[in-house]
Amino acid sequence: MKVAIFGDIHGNLEALKAAYSETVSKGIDKIYHLGDLGGYAPFVNEVVEFLTEHRIEGVKGNYDETVANDREHCGCKYEDPVQEEMANLSFEWTKKHASRKTKEYLKKLPFSISLQAEGKKVLLFHATPGKNNLYWYEERPEKFFREMARKVETDIMIYGHTHKPYRKDIEGKVFINAGSVGKPKDGDPRACVALVEITKDAVTTNFLRVPYDIEATAEAIIEKGLPGYFAERLKEAR
Ligand SMILES: [Fe+2]
Repeated sequence: MKVAIFGDIHGNLEALKAAYSETVSKGIDKIYHLGDLGGYAPFVNEVVEFLTEHRIEGVKGNYDETVANDREHCGCKYEDPVQEEMANLSFEWTKKHASRKTKEYLKKLPFSISLQAEGKKVLLFHATPGKNNLYWYEERPEKFFREMARKVETDIMIYGHTHKPYRKDIEGKVFINAGSVGKPKDGDPRACVALVEITKDAVTTNFLRVPYDIEATAEAIIEKGLPGYFAERLKEAR
């Protein structure tokens, strides 16, 4: 079984379209998304329409939950006061512009999706198996990975939220952070898609990097009234 995972699309329709075309050309059985469909870029409604139209199922991110329920806070963390202010502007913008239909879609997303492939169990979720706003970076100690694995009876865990892709294997368990389609933060601005192939003997991961029209998204961010700050960060992938 070969699946493609679209992490953190964040309103970036250009990136999603490019990721989709590239993925389809690779002969994939199924595509899943990992939530966080809006925020930072303006096309949350279009992203939801695209996913619905192409029957791409997925899970609920912290941003989806907080936008859909008109919460006070997006559940994101900040590194400095400027980032906090910008993040609040993006969150308010997204709550205001997400349509009722979009919010209904976001509300209905499940917390996780479990799959069976070649005798292995696969679990998809946004951030961690129990909380959708905890940042699970590669640098976390192995103890953290083992704790997370203990919470769920599964062989392969696939998640996002940090926007930094990695794969780690510990005691026979496979941990895959799929990175981000629409807002990478690992210094590579191209859309990131995780291709995961599961056979009886092996789990193979390939992080596809897909170029797209970043300039078009950057312009749309400004044109639609979101902070130019996010256009700059998109180009720098941070
Ligand atoms: Fe997130």
